[in-house]
Amino acid sequence: MDVPAPLVRGAALLRCPVCSAPLELHERSLVCDQRHTYDISRHGHVTLARAPAPGDDAAMVAARAAVFDAGHYAPLTAALARAATSAASDGDAATATDDETLEGGAAAGGDAAGGGEAARGDAATATGDEAQAGEAAAAGDVPQPGEATASRDEARSGQAGAGDDAARPDEATASGDAARPGQAAAGGAAAGPGAASVVLDIGAGTGHHLAGVLEARPGALGIALDTSRPALRLAARAHPDIAAVVGDVWEALPLQDGVVDLALVVFAPRNGGEIARVLRPGGTALVVIPTPEHLAELAHLHAVQVDPEKPERLERTLGAHLQHTGTEAVRWTMQLSQQDVEHVIRMSPAGAHRGEAEAHAATVTGSVELRTYRSPDVGGGG
Ligand SMILES: C[S@@+](CC[C@H](N)C(=O)[O-])C[C@H]1O[C@@H](n2cnc3c(N)ncnc32)[C@H](O)[C@@H]1O
Repeated sequence: MDVPAPLVRGAALLRCPVCSAPLELHERSLVCDQRHTYDISRHGHVTLARAPAPGDDAAMVAARAAVFDAGHYAPLTAALARAATSAASDGDAATATDDETLEGGAAAGGDAAGGGEAARGDAATATGDEAQAGEAAAAGDVPQPGEATASRDEARSGQAGAGDDAARPDEATASGDAARPGQAAAGGAAAGPGAASVVLDIGAGTGHHLAGVLEARPGALGIALDTSRPALRLAARAHPDIAAVVGDVWEALPLQDGVVDLALVVFAPRNGGEIARVLRPGGTALVVIPTPEHLAELAHLHAVQVDPEKPERLERTLGAHLQHTGTEAVRWTMQLSQQDVEHVIRMSPAGAHRGEAEAHAATVTGSVELRTYRSPDVGGGG
């Protein structure tokens, strides 16, 4: 079986999780100069972590995929795509050529990607920081280290078995030539905003949001990073430009310094220092966290404790490394069937705390903050 084309493109951006040396593609393996070797699975992903936590199990991943397939989170995907386009425009405005972008050319500061942008579609958007107070239920979000949630340990348990084969129609044969990071990313097709850029989705899950963002940034290379192999099997097939990498946020990310133009963290763990390290100078991070209203109508169906200090933790985690440049409040309404309700509960850590109450069809609120952070233009991302 051939090596998936995005892994061919992205190989030179990755680094060894043991010794941090660059990796090169040799046949179906990534190898560093110390001969640490990482085989590409038949499902299309490669494991670049020393001891990755299991991440979401197959049942959680299947529930998440069903919710996305039904379109219930489409307004959030659309908001991310708009913010990604805005971030690309800012970068292009300050950069003469794709090569300079990939070499870490400066991006325009100031404007928040997505912040202040009017809502389209059925996502009702209010700008400003008014939604930042008191984040609620972890229904949807992954607890961060030290958070007072009941679900953290259980959320890590249990990974499920084999899925289907992830062979792709667009797979390319591996070449022995390892391009430098910029060249690897530049292997894509199109011109226009975001061409030849690198989008890293940290805790990408099924790759659904990343695929939506890549549609808005033609030619970009997407890297879906997660500890969940069942999730990455789907991510590897979610879009022709997604490279799927098993990596753990709480280890050093298996990417070289400054090679990422745009990082996404959607309901997933956040390691500020590592995000800053892998972002290029002037690069952008889009971070999504739930507000207290998110899925509030379903709170009676589970028992997940709330960490009232979550927003402050986010600021401590990311604010120490990146500049917070804007917040967009994204709200939408979901008409959920009884089965949809079960899926929405089961796809998150709240599912481990599903109570006895019977689920019913319901009109449910989606409500998140989409926060934009910038890596400093000068002096690196650390
Ligand atoms: C709530 S899901 C969100 C998935 C995706 N971002 C989305 O919005 O659909 C959280 C994801 O983070 C992953 N995850 C949990 N702990 C992780 C870790 N330490 N490193 C990388 N991924 C992790 C889970 O496997 C899961 O896919």
